[in-house]
Amino acid sequence: MADQSLGAALEREHREIDGDVEKFVTAVGAGETRIDALGRAMVSLRRHIYLEEEFLFPPLKAAGMMGPVMVMLKEHGQMWQTMADLDVRLAELDGGDATAVETLCRELVGELQEHNGKEELILYPQADAVLDVEASADLEDFLAGGTMPEGWAATMARRG
Ligand SMILES: [Fe+2]
Ligand SMILES: [Fe+2]
Repeated sequence: MADQSLGAALEREHREIDGDVEKFVTAVGAGETRIDALGRAMVSLRRHIYLEEEFLFPPLKAAGMMGPVMVMLKEHGQMWQTMADLDVRLAELDGGDATAVETLCRELVGELQEHNGKEELILYPQADAVLDVEASADLEDFLAGGTMPEGWAATMARRG
């Protein structure tokens, strides 16, 4: 990934995920395609949150960005809950009224817009400067093909 910065690569993931969540809201009917797009977005968003919390935030925190990282962790917790609510509504959908799913999708789009804007303005520009060679390589490897461990949850969404 030598041709682009870590920040640029992470921003590209933001656009892909946003686009898939928005497809559910803008597409007509309750066809498979929009449900597939939303399912793909939720897998990608959970993986993206895992990547940030495991590979990006620890070095940024160690470099003194504790405050912004805490805000991001809190917002990840909120999005994690919105996705859990979406799972429940999607399981109930069964070809029926998709209004509740659409409402939650709009909520998630709003949460993503606010969150991604802050990450792209405050945290991502620091990524290349702060992460050492090993940490950058770990992040890039995961970005290229890593999967979130089964059962992992965002730090602030964990119970008990
Ligand atoms: Fe994030
Ligand atoms: Fe992000």
